[in-house]
Amino acid sequence: MAKGAVLVASALCILAFAGFAHCHDEVFTVEGKVYCDTCRLQFVTKFSQFLAGATVQLECRDRQDCNNVTYSVESLTDANGHYGLPVYGDHEGEICEVTLVSSPDPECSEPTTERARVSLTKNSGITSDCRYANYLGFLKTDPIPECLEVLRELALFS
Ligand SMILES: *[C@@H]1O[C@H](CO)[C@@H](O)[C@H](O)[C@H]1NC(C)=O
Repeated sequence: MAKGAVLVASALCILAFAGFAHCHDEVFTVEGKVYCDTCRLQFVTKFSQFLAGATVQLECRDRQDCNNVTYSVESLTDANGHYGLPVYGDHEGEICEVTLVSSPDPECSEPTTERARVSLTKNSGITSDCRYANYLGFLKTDPIPECLEVLRELALFS
C-alpha cells in the first residue's frame, strides 16, 4: 500500500480513537476493510465492493510455537466494510494476522487464502496505537462481465 495512504489512515485512526487510547496502556486498534473481489483477481479493482457484515478474526501466535494462540478476537465489518479490532497487551515475539471468517453474501463467500499481518508491539518503531491491515477479499463465485475491462487495462499497462 502507498505510504501516503497509510499515513492518512493512521492520522484518521488517531483522531477517531484518541479518547479511547489515552486512558489505557498498550492498547492497539487494528483497522482494515473487507471487500468482495468481483473479478477474482485478489486485489481491489474499481468494480470491487466493500462488504458489510463480514466476520474477521485476529489471532496472535507465538513465533516459536504456532499452536500457541496468545490472543484472538473477532469483529464484524460496518456498512463501509470497515472493521476495528481492539488488542490489549504488547505482542512482541508473536505473529499476529487478520483472516476472513465468513461473508454475508452467498455469491461472494470464498475466502482468499491471504492473511493480513500486523505488528502489535511498541518496539517496532511505530508510535501510533493504530495498525492498518491490508484489505482482505472474498472471491465472487462468478466474475462480473465488467472485469473484462479491468483485464484489458492491465494488459495495456503491464
Ligand atoms: C505462549 O506464548 C506466550 C507469548 O509468546 C508465552 O508467554 C507463553 O509462555 C506460551 N505458552 C506456552 C504454553 O508455551
